[in-house]
Parts: sequence; structure tokens; C-alpha cells
Amino acid sequence: MASIEFDISAIPEGQSVTIMWRGLPVFVRHRTQAEIDEAKAVPLADLKDPETDEQRTKPGHEQWLIMIANCTHLGCVPVGDSGDFDGWFCPCHGSHYDSAGRIRKGPAPKNLVLPPYEFLSDTLVQIG
Ligand code: FES
Repeated sequence: MASIEFDISAIPEGQSVTIMWRGLPVFVRHRTQAEIDEAKAVPLADLKDPETDEQRTKPGHEQWLIMIANCTHLGCVPVGDSGDFDGWFCPCHGSHYDSAGRIRKGPAPKNLVLPPYEFLSDTLVQIG
């Protein structure tokens, strides 16, 4: 499996970039503390695809959210900083994802998918 290394140091807090990995778009989001706190406060019982915020990030790097940028409904690319849950909104059929990329409303069945990745340092991530 082809892997890539990506320097995250230039992404300001509260912003995202979209990079390509194996032909797939991948969101790299530098979350704010408010986004993290909001995601952690959601009861698992409220989630269609229950995953804790900790399951969505790496220990010690919880400000970074790295996810394949295809809606789990039919694959459109959701729009960031939008939707009802301070995350992403997929305009194709109206799926709302929260600040941890978890599906909260709409037809998508699953959370945005996490690619395999690891932190090589505080600023360098290897995806794949
Ligand atoms: Fe996103 Fe249908 S592809 S809601």
C-alpha cells in the first residue's frame, strides 16, 4: 500500500486542508479546543455509528482529525465548517457530520472513514 508523508505544521487551528492519498481525497483538520470539547461531550447513545472522540484521533494528537473525504452514503465530498453539528455537510443528500466526523443526521450510514495513519513527529504524518 502506497503511503505518503504530510507536513501539518502550516495548517492553522480551525482550518482544514484536503490532500490526495491513493486517489482518495483526505481531510486533515486542525481542530479547535471548542470542537474537541463538543465532540467529547456527545453521548454515545446519540450516535448512529457509535465511536468516541478518542477512537477518532491519536493519543496526544487529538487536535488532528484525518479522514477520507467521501461521504459514506454515496461518496460525495462533504463541505467543511457547515452542517448542524459544527463539522461537515454533504450537499448531495443532506448528511451532517460532527466535529469528529461522525454521522449525526441524514442518509449516510457510517462515520467518515479514517485512513491508516501515524504521527512520525508532532508535525509530520504518514498516511497509509
Ligand atoms: Fe452524501 Fe448522499 S452522498 S448524503
